[in-house]
Amino acid sequence: MRIIVQNAKCQGHARCASQAPHIFKLDDEGYILPGDIQVAEGEELPASRGARSCPERALELTR
Ligand code: F3S
Repeated sequence: MRIIVQNAKCQGHARCASQAPHIFKLDDEGYILPGDIQVAEGEELPASRGARSCPERALELTR
């Protein structure tokens, strides 16, 4: 599983990181770091929860 990060949509809500801080890394101002996220095996559940928690829909799950 991979997460496509759309930085232009991120408003710094940080809900993704509060769900899974080891998967969703934020910069000093609380915005998601650029670059797609490759989800490790066994991390699909927290990754999908974090991605779905973003109110701006900045995190797109893909296979
Ligand atoms: Fe940004 Fe959404 Fe996370 S707005 S910090 S990607 S919850």
